[in-house]
Amino acid sequence: MKKEEAAKELLKQTKEKEETLHEMLNQPLSFIQKALVDGLYTFYFDVLGKKPKIDEDAARQARETFKNYFPEKVEEMLAQLLDDPEGYHQKVVAFEKICPPVFVDFPTDPSYYRVIISDPSRQLQEVLTRLALFSNFPSSNGKYSALDVGTGYGRLAMVIEDTLRSLYAGGKGYRVFGMDISEGNIEAAKKLNRETGSEITFFTRDMNQIPFPSDSLNLVNTTDASYLNFRHRRPFYIAEIARVLRPDGGVCCITNPNELTTLKEYNYVMMRTNYRTYLNPVNIMKATVLGKCSIYIDALSKARPDWALTTTADMTDTLTRVLKADIIDITNWPKKGGPSIYSGFTFAVNDSTKRQIDRYTKFRERRKAAEQWFDM
Ligand SMILES: C[S@@+](CC[C@H](N)C(=O)[O-])C[C@H]1O[C@@H](n2cnc3c(N)ncnc32)[C@H](O)[C@@H]1O
Repeated sequence: MKKEEAAKELLKQTKEKEETLHEMLNQPLSFIQKALVDGLYTFYFDVLGKKPKIDEDAARQARETFKNYFPEKVEEMLAQLLDDPEGYHQKVVAFEKICPPVFVDFPTDPSYYRVIISDPSRQLQEVLTRLALFSNFPSSNGKYSALDVGTGYGRLAMVIEDTLRSLYAGGKGYRVFGMDISEGNIEAAKKLNRETGSEITFFTRDMNQIPFPSDSLNLVNTTDASYLNFRHRRPFYIAEIARVLRPDGGVCCITNPNELTTLKEYNYVMMRTNYRTYLNPVNIMKATVLGKCSIYIDALSKARPDWALTTTADMTDTLTRVLKADIIDITNWPKKGGPSIYSGFTFAVNDSTKRQIDRYTKFRERRKAAEQWFDM
């Protein structure tokens, strides 16, 4: 299929998925559905006492210390990093000595995700990733490299590979990479990779330190992962993505949960969109394991400033004002209003972006020697 035809077909699919999602989200919850979510929460978290606990003293100290080290807005943090990369790096190290970061291992083993994979909102993410790929796929069949950041078990990396495979019609002009901080998730990704015959390179790394040369990738995808990054480290993540992308490269970033949706509301949404899968008791228990992790993240993001979520508006302001990047699309899904479950944006770096991060790029390349980088 030609690129233009394939893109047209994808746009049609996006519209259909958005319609389905919109319809489902507007269905009232039945008594049973609501009781299931409420009952499960009460039973698991209150009766069984499985609610994860926050260290209140550490949270208080983080609140007091954070404001001594960092400005309030991510855009100001990024401006500081670009102006004086070494100074900003030192500040992060000093802050984290006083307030050690809390890591939450987020399990994305396929067996958990199979519970939610038929959810139309997840399918919509996949279509949007394909669309982002189409929007910056070069018309000449040059070499194309794509990276999925916070890949989990490689769900979106596999979508990217599948799309490139059809665009290159069997040729080998592309490479796909997936990175994640969790060794367990990367092991699951590698296993699935072997089983399904895909050829993605998966590796373990923090999203704030991308081991690729500058100007080497065409696409960075990052779905449902950036909200797990620490607020004060986020400038590294943004600058790293801008550094590794080619001057005409693009980004698809989908965040979750939507900044304005509480976890319980989100679970009501899941119950609406995918309740038949949820009604299976085994699946309910699997989802609860993920829920425990999400509840903890929810509470942490309210208690600790280094965990505070960054909104999509913050991100896009930062990208345009500080990085001079071109925003392609900002959206909340479903677009027609009502409860929103995903928020995301696509953007492209350009020559001005590259000029803005010049000092940062030099700082990062000096550190290259200490790290293994992918040969591109
Ligand atoms: C909710 S999962 C999403 C996985 C995948 N993108 C998807 O949509 O199927 C979030 C992923 O982000 C990863 N993650 C969290 N913090 C990270 C970090 N600092 N660097 C890289 N990955 C990270 C987690 O390990 C987890 O696999």
